[in-house]
Amino acid sequence: MAILRLPAARLAGPGPAAVEEIAAHVVAAAVWAPSVHNSQPWWFSVDGQEISLHADVGRRLMVADPRGREMMISCGAALFTARLALRSLGYIPETAVLPDPGQPLLVARVRWPRRADVAEFERRLFDQVLRRRTHRGGFSPLPLSPGLLAVLQEGAGRDGAMLRIVDGDGSRAVLAAAVETGEQALRADGAYARELASWAPPPGSTRRDGVPPTAYPARPGRTWPQFASRDFAHGRGWGTSFSPASAAPGSAGVVCLLTTTGDRPLDWVNAGQALLRALLTSATCGVAAAMHSQPLERARLREFIRTQLCGGAYPQLVLRLGQVTQAAVSVRRSPASVLFASGGEHLCLSHG
Ligand SMILES: Cc1cc2nc3c(=O)[nH]c(=O)nc-3n(C[C@H](O)[C@H](O)[C@H](O)COP(=O)(O)O)c2cc1C
Repeated sequence: MAILRLPAARLAGPGPAAVEEIAAHVVAAAVWAPSVHNSQPWWFSVDGQEISLHADVGRRLMVADPRGREMMISCGAALFTARLALRSLGYIPETAVLPDPGQPLLVARVRWPRRADVAEFERRLFDQVLRRRTHRGGFSPLPLSPGLLAVLQEGAGRDGAMLRIVDGDGSRAVLAAAVETGEQALRADGAYARELASWAPPPGSTRRDGVPPTAYPARPGRTWPQFASRDFAHGRGWGTSFSPASAAPGSAGVVCLLTTTGDRPLDWVNAGQALLRALLTSATCGVAAAMHSQPLERARLREFIRTQLCGGAYPQLVLRLGQVTQAAVSVRRSPASVLFASGGEHLCLSHG
């Protein structure tokens, strides 16, 4: 948990901290953003008083994500975390998203010219950066507070996205059926199945990317309606032994669609920022999220969801929110391996 070892108290003190220390703090947090298949498709560079976030196209899912939509959502999530990390030090981030049309993989440049006291809610959000984990399975039947849902919806709007609650048994069943259809179509597609397998290391692997078996249950509990899980174990029985408290289907939770009005890279980065704000805000209330992108990786299913459930807006991710007791364990590459000085060499991350 590198981020906890950083000298945050000293960094947040009245005097200016060294750029390298600030960058180390920011990147140590940003790497804990969620990403599709935990591909972590990003790297960072530091130039003067500026951190740049770059999409790592070598980590894009070539089969499932040919346009780089999910790669950019993942980078947007890392961007939100980086901005929050600057706030945790009392800096006000100034962000230019996709600042250079000639460099489409340059996701954002972030500067921090001014300071302001850290608000309590910012501290609470930042506290969840390492704690938050993707959930896979059912939720407890306890309802979520309507106040939380309103806060999540307002927050998504601030990042240029919308969080639509899919309520009504009919709509929830239609969306669950779309997830199931997407999952079955992907399982039947050999190229897709090979790509997923390449991001799902076996038990005991020392890899620091991909979805490890500690992150998903060997037998995901059923939900009503049933939202199909990704087949990370590809039939080998990998996964944790967490079992649902009862054989009866668990709750699918509050089902939501994260949408944007456009469908360009800027919209995808916005969706990623909105995603992280929603996940961290939920986590401060003990609420976890399950994510499903299977139907959105099939063009016809995505179009169906767009027209039937999103009022014409573009669906970027299916989310289910609810309360859980089990905690998944995930992995990340080290911050040092993704942080470079502008000249290309690794930045020294020591804090002596
Ligand atoms: C764009 C995007 C799509 C995702 N799609 C799925 C999905 O379909 N199924 C799933 O179980 N998790 C999905 N996830 C969650 C990632 O697998 C998860 O973030 C990653 O494994 C890291 O684990 P953590 O979130 O617990 O830190 C998605 C995440 C992102 C950002």
